[in-house]
Formats: sequence, structure tokens, C-alpha cells
Amino acid sequence: MSGSSAPANALDVACAAAREAGRIALDAFRRPQRVETKGRGNLVSETDFAIERFLHETFAREFPDHAILSEETASTTALDGWVWVIDPLDGTRNFVSGIPFFCVNIALCYDGVPVVAVTCDPNQDECYSAERGRGARLNDAPMRASGAPTVLQSVLGFDLGYDDDLGRGVLQLIHELFPGAQSVRIPGSAALGLAYAACGRYDLFVHHCLFPWDIAAGILLVQEAGGVITDHLGAPIEIASPSVIAGAPRAHADFLRWQQEHSAKLDLLSKK
Ligand code: IPD
Ligand code: CA
Ligand code: CA
Repeated sequence: MSGSSAPANALDVACAAAREAGRIALDAFRRPQRVETKGRGNLVSETDFAIERFLHETFAREFPDHAILSEETASTTALDGWVWVIDPLDGTRNFVSGIPFFCVNIALCYDGVPVVAVTCDPNQDECYSAERGRGARLNDAPMRASGAPTVLQSVLGFDLGYDDDLGRGVLQLIHELFPGAQSVRIPGSAALGLAYAACGRYDLFVHHCLFPWDIAAGILLVQEAGGVITDHLGAPIEIASPSVIAGAPRAHADFLRWQQEHSAKLDLLSKK
């Protein structure tokens, strides 16, 4: 990566922008909203667009040479060079239902590799952040992924995504696994799921239907927190990877072993 260290102020700008975007979300939360439907359970509210406008203006002003890839109004689809990869509101289904589990998700990537990451949860006033090579933080404190040794000793976070077959595959996997874990959670924000894996609240997080704006920040958060993050088969992760297993290194290896042993019964493995 030539010039691959991020501009000196990138993390500060991203943190301040994510916190302001979180305030926009909280101001609108539980108030009447214009909402459009993109698919079953897949919504976009006027707040998604308002936050996205604010973030586009901020990054275009502060970093005029950088491109922006964001969920609702992507201004680029190319990933070469410096690109801000943004999900203005992750967990819109929760947001619209009044469920306080959603976040603003921002990553700065160079040639598709995340170098700065911020995931902001305005409901908890929590900002997860990382810069490549410089560790990861939850607000002002360093954060570490879990050290759970096995799946049996793990709390597992999942998400279903918007593809019916993949969602059914995840539920089948949970059915096959249960009761072989401490518990499972499906609270409905992929980006917060990855942030929870980065700070050790989840020992592992598993998702099979992701887009770059869902995953880019989480890749760096988990890596810089000492966790492992791969695709669903254990291959190296990329921001274009649609699937992820992330969290405690030893539990991750145990999960891959369990999957392999049960692959014949898992549509997610036999059909992909
Ligand atoms: C979605 C949420 C959801 C997950 C989907 C994501 P959105 O993002 O993170 O929990 O299951 O895969 O696309 O639509 O709220 O930005
Ligand atoms: Ca979104
Ligand atoms: Ca999302």
C-alpha cells in the first residue's frame, strides 16, 4: 500500500463524524419516519438518508481526494485507492421498530484494506475504533477479543440477513449446534455484532449475507483487538466477503472443526 498509513486526522474525523451521525439517529429515534421497503424486513428510513448526506458532506470536505462507497447512495463501486466505506445506519429494522440496537459504521480503506474503523452505538454512547497497527478501543479504553477456548464455552452472535435461503441455513446451523454453546443471540445489527466480537461480549459472531459497508469496519476492529476473522470456511477475509466468522481465536478454530464434522447436515456448507 503506497501512502498506506491513513491521513493523520482520519481517525479523529471519523470518530467525530460517527458520534454526530449517532446524535442525528437518536434525535429521530421513536419519532414518525418516512420509510421505504427494499425487501422483506429490509427498510430504509429518511434518517438513513439524512445521516448519509451528513457523512458524504463531511468526508468530501475533509478528504476531497478520497472516494466514498455507502449503502444508500454509493458514489463509487471501485475499491482502489482511498475509499470511505459507510453504512449510515446499520440495524434500520430495529431503528424503525423502536429497538435500541443500531449503529453508524465507517471504515477508511486503501485498495480495499481497512485502515481506520469506527462503529458508533449512540444508544450506549459507545464508540468502537481502530487504526491499523495501533490497536482497538472502546471509547477511551483498549479492547480485546475474547479468549474463549471452545464453542461450548462461547456466547455466539448470529444474524440472518435478507436472503431467505441463507437465513434458513443459519437457523439450521443453530438448530444443529444447540445446546453446544453458552447461548445464542440474534439482535439485528451486523456491524454491532462484529463490534461485540471485537470487544469480547460475543465470543464469536457469524453472518452469511454481508456487504462491504456492513463488514469493513468490523474486520479492522476484530483484527486490532487480537481476534480472528475469516469467511465461513476459514479463508482470509476481504471487505467483499459475504460471510464471516469472527472473535476468539481458539473458539474460532473449534467452530471451524465443528462445522467440518457436521458439514453433511449444514446446507450453508454443502450448497455454497
Ligand atoms: C442489516 C443489518 C441486519 C443484517 C443484515 C444487514 P441494514 O443492515 O445489519 O442485522 O442481518 O445482513 O444488511 O440494512 O440495517 O443496514
Ligand atoms: Ca444501513
Ligand atoms: Ca447494514
